[in-house]
Amino acid sequence: MDVYEAVASRRAVRAFTGEPVPRATLDRVLAAATRAPSGGNIQPWHGYLLSGSALADLTRRTGARVAAGDPGDEPEFPQYPAELPAPYRERRSAAGERRYAALGIARADAAARARAVARNWDCFGAPAALFCYLDRRFGATQWTDIGMYLQTVMLLLRAEGLHSCPQKAWPVYHRTVAASVGAPDRLMLVCGLSIGYADPAAAPVVTDRAPLAETVTYLG
Ligand SMILES: Cc1cc2nc3c(=O)[nH]c(=O)nc-3n(C[C@H](O)[C@H](O)[C@H](O)COP(=O)(O)O)c2cc1C
Repeated sequence: MDVYEAVASRRAVRAFTGEPVPRATLDRVLAAATRAPSGGNIQPWHGYLLSGSALADLTRRTGARVAAGDPGDEPEFPQYPAELPAPYRERRSAAGERRYAALGIARADAAARARAVARNWDCFGAPAALFCYLDRRFGATQWTDIGMYLQTVMLLLRAEGLHSCPQKAWPVYHRTVAASVGAPDRLMLVCGLSIGYADPAAAPVVTDRAPLAETVTYLG
């Protein structure tokens, strides 16, 4: 698979088969992803890879919080600005519509939407998940490093026939994750990443993108 194919075939998969991912495959991907760039080559990320009983324990504990109506821990950073301006608001809403339409969930069915969101904390049935942490003393540049690292992992997973879903949902319950993985206080959970084989029975959600002219300006 070349890089264009890996980029084109990567999508946020929200239904996995549960088939275990061999440890050797995860090792290959995570070892190759260490080549991701970072400002000053400081490699500010720290990942915890959970599978088997470790992941089952985390999803059980988080699932209990979700089922109890627990809204989550105090946020350590805002997920979005309080007011999401145009055109970002429209793009976000369009992605949500696509997602719920693929699941057959009506716009007004808030309970079904909440159930779909709750699947985040079951990792959508994935057999493995990476929890990506950043030292909380770092700033904006190191956050961009984390994005590059995670995209590198996601593209390498495609080369192995695997899919993934990056999840900002996991920091909502960051204390439960930290307790499960044993993260030291100096680290902050930035993103979860569910990893596994896509369930072929689940309808894929195909998101669109803004035209190139809206997001890139050529000069010269
Ligand atoms: C940093 C980040 C966090 C995300 N968090 C979630 C999440 O918590 N739950 C989820 O279902 N999708 C999540 N997504 C997936 C996005 O919704 C998805 O990437 C976007 O709609 C574009 O769709 P595509 O990835 O299928 O191309 C996240 C993506 C990124 C990059």
